[in-house]
Amino acid sequence: MTPPVFELQDVSKVYPMGDGEVRALDHVDLQIREGEFSAIIGPSGSGKSTLMHIMGFMDQPTSGKVLFDGEDMSRLPSNKRALVRNAKIGFVFQAFNLLPKLSVHENTALPLRYTKTPRKIIAERARAALEMVGLANRGDHSPGQLSGGQRQRVAIARALINEPRLILADEPTGNLDSENAALIMDLFDRLHADGRTLVLVTHDNEVAEHARRQIRVQDGHVH
Ligand SMILES: Nc1ncnc2c1ncn2[C@@H]1O[C@H](COP(=O)(O)OP(=O)(O)OP(=O)(O)O)[C@@H](O)[C@H]1O
Ligand SMILES: [Mg+2]
Repeated sequence: MTPPVFELQDVSKVYPMGDGEVRALDHVDLQIREGEFSAIIGPSGSGKSTLMHIMGFMDQPTSGKVLFDGEDMSRLPSNKRALVRNAKIGFVFQAFNLLPKLSVHENTALPLRYTKTPRKIIAERARAALEMVGLANRGDHSPGQLSGGQRQRVAIARALINEPRLILADEPTGNLDSENAALIMDLFDRLHADGRTLVLVTHDNEVAEHARRQIRVQDGHVH
């Protein structure tokens, strides 16, 4: 078996709430292997987004270890963690997180903006990424001029631009009609065939069945 690219060891995430607390993740152990295509499924509020944020180093666990390529990420200073994330992980947020003042093209190119990649190459790659999600002709628009589904596809193009090894997508087809959902699933199938590691959160059974592995989350537990 290939070694895990990604591993959570006894991870808990606890949020204070009033006098008590919310245990969003409760002693979670999880391994993701190189090239795996997994779907995270579970009811609303079960901890799926929390899990994704911790896997993408957007958030730190309250306790437990997060290993990437065998390295304990929680021991790295946050700027080093951000570097690893920028180079190796593509993240599609549930709420898209597009910057309203930048064009669609600029939003897509954002992960490469502070790298040494020449501007011409960045422009070409942003165009190619937008083409992959069927938005080649929308580069000059602002996110506010797009529909929810189109914004979602820009967020996916942005996650792919740095050709990440690990792609984390939180409900990537949640706002899409069946035609555009199929386009995105074809794209994920190609990325999987290409050897990338994919983890996506979904409420859609058809999307979940596309993945080769289903990870169930319930009340902060992973099954
Ligand atoms: N910043 C926060 N502060 C306090 N509680 C939080 C915070 N973020 C998440 N939670 C709580 O943690 C639990 C898990 O939330 P999470 O967003 O991971 O759920 P989810 O499975 O992604 O749900 P959905 O399917 O609705 O997106 C919920 O009870 C939520 O209210
Ligand atoms: Mg969520």
